[in-house]
Amino acid sequence: MLGEYMDSNSLSKLKDYKLKNKKFSIHDSRNIIKSVRSNKNLPILNKKFAFYNFKGGVGKTSICFQLSSHIALMGYSVLVVDADPQAHLSTSFGLQSDSCFLTLYDLLTNKASFNDVKKNIFLGFDLIPSNLSLTRIESIFYDKKQSFNKLSEQLSLIESDYDFIFLDTNPTVSFLNRNIVFFSDVINLVCETQPYSLNGLKILLEDLNNFYTHSGIIPKCMHIIPNKYEYRTISSAESMSLLRTYYKTYIKEDFAVRKSEDFNISAKIGKPLVLFAKKNSIALEDILDLTFHLLDRYAYGNNIYKK
Ligand SMILES: Nc1ncnc2c1ncn2[C@@H]1O[C@H](COP(=O)(O)OP(=O)(O)OP(=O)(O)O)[C@@H](O)[C@H]1O
Ligand SMILES: [Mg+2]
Repeated sequence: MLGEYMDSNSLSKLKDYKLKNKKFSIHDSRNIIKSVRSNKNLPILNKKFAFYNFKGGVGKTSICFQLSSHIALMGYSVLVVDADPQAHLSTSFGLQSDSCFLTLYDLLTNKASFNDVKKNIFLGFDLIPSNLSLTRIESIFYDKKQSFNKLSEQLSLIESDYDFIFLDTNPTVSFLNRNIVFFSDVINLVCETQPYSLNGLKILLEDLNNFYTHSGIIPKCMHIIPNKYEYRTISSAESMSLLRTYYKTYIKEDFAVRKSEDFNISAKIGKPLVLFAKKNSIALEDILDLTFHLLDRYAYGNNIYKK
């Protein structure tokens, strides 16, 4: 199937390729993968994915970076939104926080248009960046009677231009995060496989349910992503057992993203795992598993996504 596609579309290999896994340009690779693997004819049921937890350092940005990049590399058109003033996501995409560029703050305050704010990463993959200016948005939201729909108002104008929108949140209970929850279809709750993190998860779910009730919105799809799993540690095993017992319907069965140095390297060099990790990388294996799970179960709402 792959051979047929390449022959019929007369794709040429990059002239100076040295590594087996870098034979084609990003543009050609996206077309190849999308044509051979994607379910082009199925409707996408859920397209807006938030990565959420008011606990810091659990892996929201890392997983948002990996999933958005990998899904864009598969040929989908993707927008990724950095909604954290710390701007780690923007930094992973190569933007230095001290340099001057428009951000989500300018979009939300109508100081700039979507097209002026967005940065193109590669064809079909755009970023709305962030920097410290975003801290000022909280007082503005507060003055506007604690509005939850400001982000939705802006992004719903361009939503149909993308197959998927990924949103990285900041680790607080903020109006901005409420706006993101309001806009998103699926809330990915990233948590560490540590006992304290699971206590936090209980509070997080209670807080979200209170928010749904008070704001009168339909509860969103929730997906828990256990992260930093350490093989052979009792705390990781205990956490997974607790997750299976209390949150079975929110997790992918027998799955956690394992702890791996490749995540740190990926953020540092600003490249998603598939562009540099070795074939036997556990981080790459877990992220690809998670990518297919997200597409299969949450985007298409079925179990027939072709791996
Ligand atoms: N599975 C993993 N294995 C090893 N390191 C990881 C893993 N996931 C994330 N990390 C590392 O943990 C640190 C925190 O991750 P990250 O910045 O993604 O968390 P975060 O939840 O976005 O944090 P914040 O709340 O501050 O925005 C980073 O150094 C990241 O590289
Ligand atoms: Mg982060």
